[in-house]
Amino acid sequence: MLHGKKIIIGITGSIAAYKIIYLVRLLVKQEAEVKIIMTPAAKEFVAPIVLSTLSKNKVYIDLVEENSWANHVALGRWADVFLIAPLSCNTLAKMANGICDNLLLAVYLSATCPVVVAPAMDEDMWHHPTTKKNLDTIKKIGNSIIPVDNGELASGLFGEGRMAEPASIITYLIENFFRGTNLKNKKVLITAGPTYEPIDPVRFIGNHSSGKMGFAIAEQAYLQGADVTLVSGPTHEQLNYNSIKLIKVTTANEMYAACLKIFKHSDITIMSAAVADYQSKEISSKKVKKKQAEWDLKLKKTTDILFQLGKQKKKSQFLVGFALETENEIENAAQKLKNKNADAIILNSLNDTNSCFGFDTNKITILYKDGTTSIFELKNKQYVAKDIISFISDKIHEK
Ligand code: CTP
Repeated sequence: MLHGKKIIIGITGSIAAYKIIYLVRLLVKQEAEVKIIMTPAAKEFVAPIVLSTLSKNKVYIDLVEENSWANHVALGRWADVFLIAPLSCNTLAKMANGICDNLLLAVYLSATCPVVVAPAMDEDMWHHPTTKKNLDTIKKIGNSIIPVDNGELASGLFGEGRMAEPASIITYLIENFFRGTNLKNKKVLITAGPTYEPIDPVRFIGNHSSGKMGFAIAEQAYLQGADVTLVSGPTHEQLNYNSIKLIKVTTANEMYAACLKIFKHSDITIMSAAVADYQSKEISSKKVKKKQAEWDLKLKKTTDILFQLGKQKKKSQFLVGFALETENEIENAAQKLKNKNADAIILNSLNDTNSCFGFDTNKITILYKDGTTSIFELKNKQYVAKDIISFISDKIHEK
């Protein structure tokens, strides 16, 4: 997501500066280009050599170094985003008043890119009226402020003022500046996880689906600009982006009801949930005691949600199903594509090692309604989700 994105990080004098080491590492891992500017005070908190090594770039500190002038205008124009983190009270006050007594402030005043700040200070300073006034001033100028966390502070006190964690800073940058546009203005419905069909208050029929694939698809669709609703069965997965609407359900019936409401307004629907195919014919309101040696459980089919949505599908809608197979994979998936009136079916085979339920990796083949088949390599589910979203995006733009 951050491949080739140019980010300048301005570090000021605050104990939270130690977190920037990890932030730089995460950004570089995601293939961002990172340049760092430090105020003289920041050098007291982290060593520039650590940051230059991790960012693979020289760290800028002084306006004039060894008789040469650091070109603050070029730096400000190089970046896609200028992140000032941690932002101390002192630098904030200077920014709000146009003071320019170091390189970081000179770059701030000449930056043509968006400026984002992640404040870090003790709670009393955070709540001081001048801090509030200064934050309001830079906000009015158009700078973005990453909310502070609540927790243990450098003083040992607990309260508001902690700098946001590196992972949250990255999420903020991606959400606000680096989302793609391939699915902009598209409403996307995704199902994920297993469903649990109750037998009695303590037992259920379920399956091993972890929800990882569906959650990854939801995030990739969101990162391409879509307005995403995720309907998920029980899972431990968590979303990284709060703007994705999450509807939690337990049973196939609940998933069907939720999908019916949303489907009619969806441009793209991706059914990655491992919906239970059968539910118990009778649900006991009390725990069934183990009196008999055998228990004949009567089951009835659940509603095939994909099949029902396929019946209602309008020409403008794009419907994608999954097929989990153990034999005659392509034939069975092709049958599902036709029977369920889907535009594409994503085939997973349990015969592929390190694929499907519970794994972080997956290997897929996409069968498209025109009869073509696209085979993908075994990949991390994030990259599989990217392939799926690119495939869909290409097809809808071809329409
Ligand atoms: N599906 C659904 N509702 C069900 C069962 C399945 O919407 N009650 C959807 C799944 O989300 C998936 C597709 O149908 O997108 C295919 O699911 P799969 O379990 O592979 O196949 P089934 O249709 O259930 O058929 P079978 O179990 O016989 O292979």
